[in-house]
Amino acid sequence: MNGFMNTHIPEKSKVAISFPGRSDFRVVPPNEAYVSVFDRSFHFGDSVYEVVRTYDGVLFGMKEHTDRLRNSMKLGLWAHLPDFSLIERMIKDTCRQYFSEFGRKDLYVRVTVSRGIGDTNIDPTTCGQPYAVVIAKEIPPAPDWHATKGVEFATVQRRRNSHEALPPSMKSGNYLNNVLAIVEAKHNGGSDAVMVNAHGFVTEGTTNNLFIVKNGVVWTPSMDAGILEGITRAMILNLCRQHKIPVEERLFTIQDVFSCEELFLSSTTREIVPITKLDGQAIGNAKPGPVTVSLRKLLREHIASEVKKQPSLFEMV
Ligand code: PDD
Repeated sequence: MNGFMNTHIPEKSKVAISFPGRSDFRVVPPNEAYVSVFDRSFHFGDSVYEVVRTYDGVLFGMKEHTDRLRNSMKLGLWAHLPDFSLIERMIKDTCRQYFSEFGRKDLYVRVTVSRGIGDTNIDPTTCGQPYAVVIAKEIPPAPDWHATKGVEFATVQRRRNSHEALPPSMKSGNYLNNVLAIVEAKHNGGSDAVMVNAHGFVTEGTTNNLFIVKNGVVWTPSMDAGILEGITRAMILNLCRQHKIPVEERLFTIQDVFSCEELFLSSTTREIVPITKLDGQAIGNAKPGPVTVSLRKLLREHIASEVKKQPSLFEMV
């Protein structure tokens, strides 16, 4: 029974699925990992998710990711919350099982919590309890040229959802706004999009936060632009403050981006990546700039020192 074989399911992955309303879960091979066709995430995108990662077997920033997962449920007006200790056990167990079967890799760990399974009625009071799915797979190392040359982004017509419509600070399973933006960006020759909001202010990429360097000052869109409060973004803001690099959270426009000295993205899986072209035009001198390079180094050092302080799941395999 695996009509889904020969699709793009990552073979070297581990999947855990919990049982709605119960405090146990099962780990299943990826090609046998199914959820119900009555799942609300499938019909309405009615789920929340996080992407956590490991470094040397250490789950990095678990508290921040768990807090944001909880906040997404709050923004999504969830009446029932899942057992967070169960989710944590699922994450650790899935990673351990990955390490013991496939070796010591750095993992991408996607945690999705569906509001539940129910009738196809849009009203969530008609569904059961939430349940979680954890997928762990290797983070393929980024090609060297991402850091040495930088990537290209494109502007798009598609606007980022407004806070009033679907809060970008809620990391929900409804990512269609971002899906449409990345399709358009690729059509326009970029690997990703610089999305602006309905008022023309820059927000974020489709799965990353954005920073520019303008007259030597680091600018990143403030929360009121309508963005996800990135965990990597917060680390970068702290590093700027600690190292006396001038930084501002503020509103700015796409013209500010075209005329800035440096542009870069941040995310859990990609850390900091320079963006050296926008719509085919050079940003600065079309090379990773000095502020981006030094922040990237500071971020990697900060992560490495935090990782050393925490227990590695490698030792528990
Ligand atoms: N994306 N903005 C959006 C819309 C995101 O989906 C993400 C994360 C970020 C960066 O947040 P953080 O630094 O906490 O990873 C910003 C994850 C990595 C993803 O969906 O794969």
